[in-house]
Amino acid sequence: MSKTAILEFDGKKYEFPLIVGTEDEVAIDIDKLRGETGAITMDPGYKNSGSCKSEITFLDGEKGILRYRGYSIEDLAEKSDFLEVSYLLVFGELPTSSQLEKFENDIRKYTLVHEEMKNIIDGFPKTAHPMGVLASLTSALTAFNPKSVNVANDKEMYEAVCKTMAKFLVIATWTYRKAMGYPLNYYDNTKSYVENFMQLMFALPTGPYKANPVVVNALDKLFILHADHEQNCSTSTVRMVGSSHAGLFASISAGVSALWGPLHGGANQAVLEMLEAIQKDGGDVEKYLAKAKDKEDPFRLMGFGHRVYKNFDPRAKIIKKAADEVLNDLGVDDPVLSIAKKLEEAALQDEYFKSRNLYPNVDFYSGIIYRSMGIPTEMFTVLFAIGRLPGWIAQWKEMRVNKEPIGRPRQIYTGSPLREFKPINER
Ligand code: SDX
Repeated sequence: MSKTAILEFDGKKYEFPLIVGTEDEVAIDIDKLRGETGAITMDPGYKNSGSCKSEITFLDGEKGILRYRGYSIEDLAEKSDFLEVSYLLVFGELPTSSQLEKFENDIRKYTLVHEEMKNIIDGFPKTAHPMGVLASLTSALTAFNPKSVNVANDKEMYEAVCKTMAKFLVIATWTYRKAMGYPLNYYDNTKSYVENFMQLMFALPTGPYKANPVVVNALDKLFILHADHEQNCSTSTVRMVGSSHAGLFASISAGVSALWGPLHGGANQAVLEMLEAIQKDGGDVEKYLAKAKDKEDPFRLMGFGHRVYKNFDPRAKIIKKAADEVLNDLGVDDPVLSIAKKLEEAALQDEYFKSRNLYPNVDFYSGIIYRSMGIPTEMFTVLFAIGRLPGWIAQWKEMRVNKEPIGRPRQIYTGSPLREFKPINER
């Protein structure tokens, strides 16, 4: 393959270097494009544009491959656990047992959230969507932890990682407790990180609480599957906000807001609402497939399609298998699961979906598992955020340590040419 790309423009030839990645992905380095040609590129949604070089996650949309720091998602989901994967994503290597034990204990040092944060959550109506509350509380953490982290200081960076992992989990569950009118729980340092999610969510002062190990194991696996996904919308948002040297909490808060959208992380909630609507409407999947294909109808098949995966989302395969196992273990017979399978089967045989390479994505089955655990639909995207947190942290850290420039895209102006101001009595 040639080492450069040649652009012929306005009667002149320009040469640009290529960047070749570990897996032979190729990028044309256009760092000097505007300076040399006066032109910029145009790529709405950045479908063809790389924002950075990264060593964290590799995915191949054509082959349905996903790896964190070189380890396959299949291996990690089967053999690892969420805190170990979090350590791997942020620090680049699988931890030794003493490093992992230290990581879990160091997170425990920060699991107390400032009591005055409760005054902030009290300001929200019970009807507030948990993702809006979570974005606000995450940003509010800056007020109680104002010192910005010196990313060049490994100790400071490590402590900021532990603090963020600790406090985000607690405030994420507070969004549910607030909506339910329950007292806000404290992290229990005698329990594991994922077990704490369940006790923070569901333990009541009126009696003892023991998380179901089947649920804890399934949640741990789901968090691993959501942990990172290279430059998706919310991660790119975290990088963009962090590129102005805004703090880690402020950047994560922006990521939470981006994830909330139904085209992104909010899809897991939208999938369940869609499946329930189909169930209520008599389970007629063909009718909803027709709606999804009708250009006049804004309805989309939520949980289907992906910007990068033009094959099966490898996470969806693992989650679909886990859904069968968890519902079976819990003795839950959820009619919505069989509607999901019917819908998937019909879509995969349908020319419209096949010709557009639309397959189930990570959000298609995850909500069915969350529901079987007693997690309310409005909390599904909060769980996505808990899983994605280590990925956001890892990507923010990489961007800052690599001293990436502030994100500032260009544009092509298509508005009015220069015109004279008219006094109001002449308009
Ligand atoms: C996540 O980027 C990531 O990595 C995200 C994520 C992560 O881990 O961070 O993987 C998590 O966000 C998963 C995606 C969750 N969103 C949904 O499930 C919402 C439903 N899906 C779509 O809205 C859509 O597929 C997107 C947003 C996911 C991707 O959209 P693209 O890449 O911009 O594709 P497009 O909108 O240009 O669609 C191409 C064609 C269009 O038809 P034509 O104009 O060619 O006729 O496919 C059609 C679209 O209308 N299409 C769908 C569809 N998705 C795409 N038609 C019906 N139902 C759908 N779901």
